[in-house]
Amino acid sequence: MNEFIDDLMEKMTLEEKLGQLNLPSSGDITTGEANSSDIAEKIKEGKVGGLFNIKSVEKIRDVQKIAVEQSRLKIPLIFGMDVIHGYQTMFPIPLGMSCSWDMDLIEKSARIAAQEASADGICWTFSPMVDISRDPRWGRVSEGSGEDPYLGSQIAKAMVKGYQGDDLTKNNTILSCVKHFALYGAIEAGRDYNTVDMSRIRMYNEYLPPYKAAIDAGAGSVMTSFNEIDGIPATANKWLLTDLLRNEWGFKGLVVTDYTAILEMVDHGLGNLKEVSALALHAGTDMDMVADGFLNTLKESLDEGKVSQQEIDQACRRILEAKYKLGLFDDPYRYCDENRSETELFTPENRQTSREIAAQTFVLLKNDNQILPLQGKGTIALIGPLADNKENMTGTWSVAADFSKSVSMLDGLKNAIGSEANLLYAKGTNIVSDPQLDARISIFGKPTQWDKRSQKEMIAEAVAVARKSDVIVAAVGEAAEMSGECSSRSDINLPENQKELLEALLATGKPVVMVLFTGRPLTISWEKENVPAILNVWFAGTEAGNAIADVLLGKVNPSGKLSSTFPQNVGQIPLYYNHKNTGRPLADGAWFQKFRSNYLNVSNDPLFPFGFGLSYTTFDYKNLNLSDSTLTKDSKLTVTVDVTNSGNQNGAEVVQLYLRDMVGSVTRPVKELKGFQKIFLKKGESRSVEFTLTEKDLRFYNSELKLVSEPGDFKVFVGTSSVNTMEVGFVLK
Ligand code: BGC
Repeated sequence: MNEFIDDLMEKMTLEEKLGQLNLPSSGDITTGEANSSDIAEKIKEGKVGGLFNIKSVEKIRDVQKIAVEQSRLKIPLIFGMDVIHGYQTMFPIPLGMSCSWDMDLIEKSARIAAQEASADGICWTFSPMVDISRDPRWGRVSEGSGEDPYLGSQIAKAMVKGYQGDDLTKNNTILSCVKHFALYGAIEAGRDYNTVDMSRIRMYNEYLPPYKAAIDAGAGSVMTSFNEIDGIPATANKWLLTDLLRNEWGFKGLVVTDYTAILEMVDHGLGNLKEVSALALHAGTDMDMVADGFLNTLKESLDEGKVSQQEIDQACRRILEAKYKLGLFDDPYRYCDENRSETELFTPENRQTSREIAAQTFVLLKNDNQILPLQGKGTIALIGPLADNKENMTGTWSVAADFSKSVSMLDGLKNAIGSEANLLYAKGTNIVSDPQLDARISIFGKPTQWDKRSQKEMIAEAVAVARKSDVIVAAVGEAAEMSGECSSRSDINLPENQKELLEALLATGKPVVMVLFTGRPLTISWEKENVPAILNVWFAGTEAGNAIADVLLGKVNPSGKLSSTFPQNVGQIPLYYNHKNTGRPLADGAWFQKFRSNYLNVSNDPLFPFGFGLSYTTFDYKNLNLSDSTLTKDSKLTVTVDVTNSGNQNGAEVVQLYLRDMVGSVTRPVKELKGFQKIFLKKGESRSVEFTLTEKDLRFYNSELKLVSEPGDFKVFVGTSSVNTMEVGFVLK
C-alpha cells in the first residue's frame, strides 16, 4: 500500500491532492444524468475525493466511471452514506437497539446494513454514532446508545465489527466512521449544535470510552463533531484530533469533518474560510465535508506558509489509504454489482431478522394486572395517531428506505390476529395539535398525516370505537422526526392533545395499553400514574407493526432494558444513574431533607431508571456470591448469582453487574455498569450466572488522567436494573 500510494502521490499535482480532501454533497443524481450533473466537471478535473448519499448502484457506477475514465489520474471515488440503522431493511433506531443489550443482534444488524449498502454501491458509512448523552431534550439521543460508557463501548465495538467484518476489501464489508468526535452529546440545554464545556476527567471517564472502543475495534474513520471543546471547535482542535486521537490512541485512519463543519467555524468566530480551513488541516482533519474550504483555500495558505506541504500530503495519503484498504484501486466497481443489488436488498430473510431484532428492543414499562399479553380474542380497539402510519415507523435517518414498504401497527395487528379477534381502528387525534409544529416534523418523506377534523370530533369517534371493544391499544408518542438532528425539545411530554385522547379512552373504563413511539426518554409521569400498561417501542424499523404485534400478543416476551434514564420532569435533567454522591446525598428512600441535595417539588428518583424493563414473567435473584473477599492485581474474582424464572412464561433477562469504588483519590460514581449477560430462561428454570472481575475492571482516570485502580473497598451490585440489585463487598489489595 505504501509503495503504491508513494508512486501515485509522486504524480499528483497540488490541486489533485486538494481534490482528494474534498467531499462535496451532490444531492441524489438523477439516473442516467451523472455525466451532465453539476459535480461531473469537478470530478473530471480531479477536484473530488468522494461523494455521499447517492442512492443506487447504477448511479454510483456512472459517477465512478467519470472518475476512473475521465480524470487525469483515474483515482476512484469513495462513496459514503448515513447508513445508521439499516439500509433498505431498516432496524430500530440506535437508542432502541441499545435497549436489546444483545451485542450479537446489534452486530448482525450492522452486518446486514453493510451487506445491503455495499450491494447498492456504498462502501463507507457514517456510523456508529457513539455520543454519550444524558439530556433527552437533545433529539439526537435517538441516534446513540444512551447514557452509559460501558454499554456504549460494547455497542460501538459490535457495530464496527458488523460493518467492517474482518476484511475490508471484501465487497460486502464497508468502512465505518465513528462519530461525532467528540462530546457532541453533552451540548448545553440539549439544543442541537450548542456549546460543550467539560472537565478532562469527566471526558476520559464518562464520554470518551465509546469512541476509543470503536477505534480499538478498528474503525477506519472518524467524523469530527460540530461542537467546541475547551473553546475550540472539534474540527480545529489539535489536542483532540492529534494529541489524543492519533498520538495517545494510535488512530491511523481518516478524519472527516461533519457537514460544513469547517465553514461553521466562521460563525464560531475563528476567522474566515481560509483561516479556519488552515486551522482544521493543522489540527489533523483530513477530509472536508461540503464546506469547500480545503479545495478552495489551502493552496493560498500553503503559499503563505500557513500550512505545510507535508500536512496536505498526510491528509491526502490517509484518504488514498482508505480507498486502498477498501480495494477500490484494484476494482473501482467492487461495490457496483447490479446482480447483488437486485438480490440482496430488502430480502425476506433480512426483514425477518429485523422483525426479530425489533421485538428485542421494546421496553415494557408497566403492566398492571397482566393486561399484556393480549388474549387476541374479542374486540380490540386500536386507536391513535401512530396506528396507521407507515412513514413514521423507521424513525430518524432512513436515507435509503422505501417507507411505503414499512409495516404499520394496524397492518401488523391485522396480520397477527386474522379472524381470531375483531380489530377496530380510529385515529383519535393528530400527533401534535399545532399545524406549524406539524409542518416542521413532516419532513424527509415522513408525513404525520394531519387530519383536518377537530380534536373534539376525532376524540368522539375514538371513544365510540373504544366503547365497543374489550381492550384499547393506544398508539401514541412522537413522530419520527420529533427526534434526530435539529429536533431538540424543551418539553418532552407526550403532546397535550394525545394526553387528552388518553384521558378520554381511560374514562371509558376499558383497559388501556399504551404503545409508545419515541426517539428519546419522555416525561410521562401522568401516563405512568394513570395508564395500566405501557410498552415503549421506539421506532422499530421496517417490520415495526409485525414486531409490535408479536410482543402485544405474547408471541415474544419483551426483554428490553432502558439504556437511558427517564426523568420525572425536565427540571431534573441531566439525570443519570452513574452520578456522583455529593457531600450531601439524600438518605436512601427519602424525598426531601433540608440542606441535602434535592428539590422541593420533586424527588430525586427517575421515572424509570437505567437498566429497567419488565417482562411477562418474573425473575428472582438469590445467592449473590463472591469467590473471595479480596482481589489482587493478578487474581480474579468470580461473581455468581442464581436467577430463576419465577413466572408463567418463558423469557429473557438482562442480568446486570455494577460496581462502586467506595474510596478514591477523586470522587467516584455511586454505581457503574461493568458487566451484563442476557439469558433466556424457561418458566421455572434457574441458572447460576457468572461474571469475572479483575483489577482492570476497577480502573479509572485519576486527576492526572492516568488509568489506575486504587486499593480499598468496593461494592458489587447485581440485579435486574440499576436500582433493583443485591450487593456484596470486596477489597482490592
Ligand atoms: C450529521 C452527521 C451526518 C452528516 C452527513 C450531518 O448533518 O451531523 O451525523 O453523518 O450530516 O449526512
